[in-house]
Amino acid sequence: MKIRQVITGQTGLSRTDRVAALCYACSLTPERLYADLDSDIADADLEVLEKCLNERMSGKPLAYITGRREFFSETFTVNENVLIPRPETEVLVEGALERLRGAKGRTILDMGCGSGAIGTIVAKETGNRVFCVDISHEALKCARQNARSLGVDGLTEFACSDLFEALGTGIQFDMILANLPYVTSGELAQLMPDVRDFEPRLALDGGEDGLDVYRRLIASLPGRLVPGGDILLEIGSAHQARELKALLEGAGLGIQIINDYANKERVVAGHG
Ligand SMILES: C[S@@+](CC[C@H](N)C(=O)[O-])C[C@H]1O[C@@H](n2cnc3c(N)ncnc32)[C@H](O)[C@@H]1O
Repeated sequence: MKIRQVITGQTGLSRTDRVAALCYACSLTPERLYADLDSDIADADLEVLEKCLNERMSGKPLAYITGRREFFSETFTVNENVLIPRPETEVLVEGALERLRGAKGRTILDMGCGSGAIGTIVAKETGNRVFCVDISHEALKCARQNARSLGVDGLTEFACSDLFEALGTGIQFDMILANLPYVTSGELAQLMPDVRDFEPRLALDGGEDGLDVYRRLIASLPGRLVPGGDILLEIGSAHQARELKALLEGAGLGIQIINDYANKERVVAGHG
């Protein structure tokens, strides 16, 4: 079978999926793939391709099939124990980098690190020390692996904890970054099957209004953020932005809301 036949064939999958599956199975870049449209696919590659297309047809996200996802121009290893890093989260990372510009010797927390997408990029881009915390042991294994492959294992530390619970009481942070679960109970049932049936519920479910975990985080904030420190929280709606703004203002912080590229409220940023 030729590459062209797979790209133009009717498999019930999008062209984007078919091209990505071909690139993965044949170990080719998209540019190389399009330059070799009339090449025959080797038998071994064809076997990988068929498995990949069948899994995709069953709804499995491509990132879990290939085991990788691009985020902030880096390739992250992902598996079904972690949320697939989303482009919206780059807004939070950019907000963090802007606030850290030139700052050295800071201690940063990536709370609910999942694959480590946020924390490892911030460590790599700024050279500051980042604590990556997650309640899931399996997610932390993945985050550690990504820290190694990005070359920041010397700058990152990992802890399994329900929010601050397992962290020593003396430890304070100059910056707290969090993309904790914020999907509401109502939205959860209506998510695309790729997300609902494959991504970890622990990474998505934020309770009735999506803010259960964030409320607990903010309640346990006293003593965790140094005076003059920053906290950046990713959210999914204007309502959530308003609620978190009120809670953080109640904790004495000045607030800025950062919108994403679709002009939706995406990050609540607090400054102490
Ligand atoms: C929405 S995912 C975000 C993952 C990653 N930060 C990202 O942006 O791709 C939320 C993460 O928070 C973790 N989590 C959920 N509840 C937690 C808790 N109480 N304490 C620490 N981590 C928690 C989940 O295991 C999951 O990895």
